[in-house]
Amino acid sequence: ANIQWFPGHMAKARNQVQEKLKQVDLVLEIVDARVPEASRNPMMNQIVGQKPRIMVLNKKDLADPNKTAQWLAYYRAQGDEAIAIDAQHAKRLNQIPQLARQMMAAKIEKQKSRGIRNPSLRAMCIGIPNVGKSTVLNRLVKKNIAVVGNRPGVTKNQQWLKADDTLMLLDTPGILWPKFEDELVGEKLALTGAIADTVFQEDGVGLFGLTFFQRAYPAALKRAYHLNDEEMALTPADLMVVLSQKMGFGETFNRAAERLIFDARQGKLGAFTLEVPGDFDGHAE
Ligand code: G4P
Repeated sequence: ANIQWFPGHMAKARNQVQEKLKQVDLVLEIVDARVPEASRNPMMNQIVGQKPRIMVLNKKDLADPNKTAQWLAYYRAQGDEAIAIDAQHAKRLNQIPQLARQMMAAKIEKQKSRGIRNPSLRAMCIGIPNVGKSTVLNRLVKKNIAVVGNRPGVTKNQQWLKADDTLMLLDTPGILWPKFEDELVGEKLALTGAIADTVFQEDGVGLFGLTFFQRAYPAALKRAYHLNDEEMALTPADLMVVLSQKMGFGETFNRAAERLIFDARQGKLGAFTLEVPGDFDGHAE
């Protein structure tokens, strides 16, 4: 969906999250494992504050496993829990309720000592559009539920969803926006398919992707397009022309760029992660 953001919507969404936060014990923040930072709402740390949080790195099937491990360690070092999942292909996501119970063990014990026989935890799921929040929620509650539609300013009636006897879930009460004023973040989100094709220039995003793969995953790029060492040594712009010719598009840059974006999203260039902790350009290799 091509989402139109207005300051009013943002303020409303932020206030709604803050309000609902009072009703929950913990937060499940869902991000795309290929772009764990770029796929976050820029205000989320501030909004969540001290509330216990599990960082859920979704789409791990598409991400570079080494970099995913780095991200998990990074978030844990920041004091959050963190887990990597593939919600689309997983049958069950039992690890999430388990992790929630582990991290909230003290609270559960306290409830028990107060005579509550079956203590249950309440968690809120948050995430910008397209990180897979609906997929995660559906897997957790084991049925198809309607989640907040991807339209800012429109709020659905909130309802508690039951993951299991010990975990209740609340969907984000509004649509959260990414850090879209940052060009690099925009390029990353475009390349991974998180933002609609109509809102970016494919030649710019394609060139960004080509530059990235040339630097971070040269072997995968070489294999995917049958490139030789000489071609691999070209500047990204010159290499794009070579790709375009190989693809039968002549010198038409933007069709080759479009194809490259498509191939990256489809996994034709292998699993990849566009950023690593401490280096959000993702080029630390
Ligand atoms: P949202 O609620 O956060 O907006 O995201 P949603 O669950 O709708 O998921 C967005 C897209 O990401 C969907 O693909 C979904 O299938 C895909 N997805 C979710 N989790 C995973 C995962 O762990 N791995 C992979 N590979 N993909 C995942 P789509 O193309 O929009 O729809 P469709 O192809 O499922 O029809």
